[in-house]
Amino acid sequence: TGYITLDPGYANTGSCTSAITYIDGEKGILRYRGIDIAELCEKSTFMEVCYLLIYGELPTAEQYTKFKDKVLFHSLIHEDMKSFFTSYPGHAHPMAILSAMVCSLSVYHPELLKPDQLPHERDQTITRLLSKVRVLAAFAYKRSVGEAFVYSRPELDYLSNFLHMMFTTPVKLYEPDEVTRKALDVLFILHADHEQNCSTSTVRMVGSSKANLFASISAGICALWGPLHGGANQAVIEMLEAIAADGGNYKKYIDRAKDKNDPFRLMGFGHRVYKNYDPRAQIIKKHCDEVLNKLGIHDPILEIAKRIEEVALTDPYFIERKLYPNVDFYSGILYRAMKIPTNMFTVMFALGRLPGWIAHWKEMVEEPGMRIARPRQIYIGEQQRPYKPMHER
Ligand code: CMC
Repeated sequence: TGYITLDPGYANTGSCTSAITYIDGEKGILRYRGIDIAELCEKSTFMEVCYLLIYGELPTAEQYTKFKDKVLFHSLIHEDMKSFFTSYPGHAHPMAILSAMVCSLSVYHPELLKPDQLPHERDQTITRLLSKVRVLAAFAYKRSVGEAFVYSRPELDYLSNFLHMMFTTPVKLYEPDEVTRKALDVLFILHADHEQNCSTSTVRMVGSSKANLFASISAGICALWGPLHGGANQAVIEMLEAIAADGGNYKKYIDRAKDKNDPFRLMGFGHRVYKNYDPRAQIIKKHCDEVLNKLGIHDPILEIAKRIEEVALTDPYFIERKLYPNVDFYSGILYRAMKIPTNMFTVMFALGRLPGWIAHWKEMVEEPGMRIARPRQIYIGEQQRPYKPMHER
């Protein structure tokens, strides 16, 4: 008490200690539990990365099978929940539905809401949420396109089952091709954690009041929605489409981004921590080329994105401010190639980020002496003054 330091946007304030993710923003390094992100993308799978982030170690074969079986199995939601989805207007944004549904899921699991859970109860909560969130996301999508909900097939692997619930229609069973499945796995690994970003800090903050995991994650989803955070992947594609519609005149948009009288920002550029190329963007860019080539897709907005990057990286405005493409700059182009609609991009980010949010919540609630998050402020309002009756105002 007494002396309070002001740190807008928490640029220099450590809010916790954590052993989950390491970032060196100057060097462009990202590691989960000490393992480099590029190595994980090459050798691991999203399911294994979930275990690594949440439990701290790569699983043994037995630990992996046990974990995976539980996650794959609990992939049904209560039938009543279907009516929640149909009550939303068809044009509702799937992020609004997802956050509401994750919170609503808690209603069907009163046994998982105890503030001080035993380890096995915490594990049950985690595996159920990891599994069911795919159903919630796929149903939100089906609602937005006015198609019938597709039931989960728990025998499928984590991502194939999600793609099945998204893209199977009454007339066609969807079987994802290997290229799409692998690219999605890589995207989810890249999204899986990023230490104390806005949504993860939100999950921690809500969870610090001992609110249950469903409520904490639901809050994280809301934080992720914003265009300065996860919502940037949708904003990037909308920006690239606008540039394409404007005759591909990307230089005009770069000039706008540099103009301090114009609120426009180059979406997918810049990062609070990375002052070097975002290692995730580097990996996604490579996959973008591979996937589009293998699927035989020529997407003109990929060319526009590459031209923007080329010009921005040699422009003094971007060099001085150390602004590089971030994870969201190329991810939308990949999602587009996979036929994921634009308004689902941030939902995809949320599905990928889920293990990171869970890992941070778990790390926090297991910490001895956990304290409620309660930032202070510097008051700049009126000093004490008398109430003025309405007729005198
Ligand atoms: N376009 C143009 N100028 C920019 C941009 C941009 N995308 N990003 C930052 N700047 C400028 C900013 O105007 C400021 O200039 P000046 O010093 O002259 O006032 C300087 O760079 C520093 O920017 P800042 O806003 O103080 O940086 P921040 O750390 O508070 O914000 C950011 C980080 C990611 C919110 C910001 O770079 C941004 O708005 N980027 C576009 C949105 C985006 O791509 N977000 C996704 C982030 S990565 C994934 C995730 O977090 O989910």
